[in-house]
Amino acid sequence: MKGIILAGGTGSRLDPLTRVTNKHLLPVYDRPMIYFPIQTLVSAGITEIMIVSGKGHAGHFLELLKSGKDFGAKFSYGVQEEAGGIAQALGLCEDFSGKEKIMVILGDNFVEDNLKQAVDDFEKMKEGAKIFLKEVKNPRSFGVAQIQGDKIIHIEEKPVEPKSNFAVVGIYMFDNKVWNVIKTLKPSKRGELEITDVNNYYVKREEMRFDILKGWWSDCGESFNSLLEAALLVQKKADQKAK
Ligand code: DAU
Repeated sequence: MKGIILAGGTGSRLDPLTRVTNKHLLPVYDRPMIYFPIQTLVSAGITEIMIVSGKGHAGHFLELLKSGKDFGAKFSYGVQEEAGGIAQALGLCEDFSGKEKIMVILGDNFVEDNLKQAVDDFEKMKEGAKIFLKEVKNPRSFGVAQIQGDKIIHIEEKPVEPKSNFAVVGIYMFDNKVWNVIKTLKPSKRGELEITDVNNYYVKREEMRFDILKGWWSDCGESFNSLLEAALLVQKKADQKAK
């Protein structure tokens, strides 16, 4: 299975911090944000990773992360010329995937859980997709899963009236049908190719599975508060380790 980190987009919710610097290079306590999704993939056993960023920033990622050797990984790089959405950025990785299954992480998401077991389970599945959910207080800021029994029946992107408190975390596992699904997408009202539309394709075919995360999850790009909270969590963990 191959890994993909999406680190394009405009980071407008963190303006002016992101006016010059790419959001995923901003500090989260003692490390650049992108170190966390890298760590999540590597500790799940995924070491062949493609990193997609926007034009104007790609060189910064290369300079910081280089070949991936320092992380025990091998990095490839892609450039998304315009912020056309998460699914559009993902579409740039088809050749890299070599038609293997993929695990995608949004570069501003980080999780406490180790996802090795989930990756191993997904490797054994013949086909389909898998996402992760986390109960949150502010579901309106995310994709929200409507659940019936042990099934997701629909996902809504940033709903005004959320049907649950379960946010869809920015970590997705897909089989190789994903590339054809992306080709059929139409831009949403905000002019982007939406990952939620990709997920709903699998939901409709009853091929979407999910796990609920046990540990904390942070979308550091959501607000200044979420960026600060993420830094405090990392600081707390570092302090506990040092004791
Ligand atoms: O964090 C989880 C949420 O992420 C999900 O619950 C939502 O369903 C999903 O749509 C997404 O929502 P956001 O509004 O937080 O997405 P955002 O536009 O902030 O993009 C998240 C990351 O995706 C960003 O850090 C970089 C990457 N990205 C985004 C866009 C729009 C790209 O690489 N290219 C892009 O064009």
